[in-house]
Amino acid sequence: MSLKLKAKNTLFQILNMLPDKVGYPLYHKIQEWFDRNSIHYKINSSHNSYLTFERLAKESNISILGKSVIEIGSGWLPLMPYFFIYMGKASTVETYDLNKHYNKNNIANLNLKFSDKFGIPVKSEQNGKLNLPEGINYYPKTDLTNVELKNADLVFSRFVLEHVSPLDIKKMHQKFKEELPEAYIIHLISPSDHRAYVDKNLSNQDFLRYSEKEWGKNHTRFDYHNRLRLPQYLEIFEELGYEVLFLEFESANKDSDIYKKFKTVPLHVDYEKYSDEELTAGSINVVLKMK
Ligand SMILES: C[S@@+](CC[C@H](N)C(=O)[O-])C[C@H]1O[C@@H](n2cnc3c(N)ncnc32)[C@H](O)[C@@H]1O
Repeated sequence: MSLKLKAKNTLFQILNMLPDKVGYPLYHKIQEWFDRNSIHYKINSSHNSYLTFERLAKESNISILGKSVIEIGSGWLPLMPYFFIYMGKASTVETYDLNKHYNKNNIANLNLKFSDKFGIPVKSEQNGKLNLPEGINYYPKTDLTNVELKNADLVFSRFVLEHVSPLDIKKMHQKFKEELPEAYIIHLISPSDHRAYVDKNLSNQDFLRYSEKEWGKNHTRFDYHNRLRLPQYLEIFEELGYEVLFLEFESANKDSDIYKKFKTVPLHVDYEKYSDEELTAGSINVVLKMK
């Protein structure tokens, strides 16, 4: 394990010993200090996700023109909501997050940069605390599995489901089934071992070497990620009665370094029943609809 990953793990283990009231604000500060990605990088990365969303929506005959959207996991900046409102012409976006990461200065900066890049004037609502544009409503410190949802035509998430426990993924989708039976659901999922972003020597599937118990000790509530493989996600959706309208994912080419590294990982018995393609499936994009 690299020194960088060891240091990160130690920091998160210390954070994990603190009560929520202290731990979460400290986690927010630490993430802010260590964030090396520029606003331009963040805008471009979310723009790519929006283009992916547009492609999936087209494939599935979905339009968000004048429609209402729910976003699971707002993150640090309201980027996907801006794309939904300013490019997709959605009427509203309700965005939920367990944490509270948005702040007024970052949003003012985003408004300038977003307007500059896309030539779209962003009109913020001056009376709101965060000066968010009209139509975007932010629900921080809110667990989406525990609130009454506003009616919505589309539920969207980007890089969120891998951070949700399998039980909560089921709870979430049961809720959508009961409260939003007509809504389309689109998830962009990044199912790789996120420790490999910090330690370049690790395989994207390194975490598949551990038992569930060992993996539980390896991370905390601040850097939780499940290890669900593609068939396990699909099983959850299908068991609840969802139809998969569209599915795409990346496969590792057998000659690639990613695949060669994967083959060095001694798989835990829990993962032996899956094929290499199922285990290495990355960048999973899925469109769901209740049957
Ligand atoms: C890795 S971040 C991704 C944020 C954002 N979608 C992006 O692409 O940058 C995952 C976010 O999902 C949020 N999240 C996880 N479970 C949630 C839940 N049950 N309700 C609301 N937000 C949740 C986390 O708090 C976290 O901010």
